[in-house]
Amino acid sequence: IPVAIFQAEDAYIYNGVKETINSGYTGEGYANYNNETSSYVEWIVNVKNSGDQTLTFRYANGTAADRPMEIKINGRTINTNLSFAPTASWTTWAEVSLSASLNKGDNTIRASSVTSTGGPNVDYLSV
Ligand code: GCU
Ligand code: CA
Ligand code: CA
Repeated sequence: IPVAIFQAEDAYIYNGVKETINSGYTGEGYANYNNETSSYVEWIVNVKNSGDQTLTFRYANGTAADRPMEIKINGRTINTNLSFAPTASWTTWAEVSLSASLNKGDNTIRASSVTSTGGPNVDYLSV
């Protein structure tokens, strides 16, 4: 099954903004989380078949500290503290992946900041 890209800037951004100032993103920009807890990006991801899928977040973290996030699928927490390690600069992008079970049809995937420094900048989610 080919990987589908779901741009963060097209998703629902809660307590954050769409931004374009740091280059290297794909699509029309990326989500800049407010630097606080519980800011999030939420995607609706439609898949043809239920079962385990690889979810990949493309992100940048130009600080020296991790910016972990909580990942929820359809309201259920699948990871309380997924690491988004420093990428050396805000224009250096990296990927973090995890495996998760999705339902056939629409799924809500939410990535929320869990520290007061907020989330990383997120370019997209691919499934
Ligand atoms: C910089 C950067 C932003 C980033 C922010 C942060 O201002 O340009 O894109 O979101 O740092 O610390 O979160
Ligand atoms: Ca930010
Ligand atoms: Ca993007």
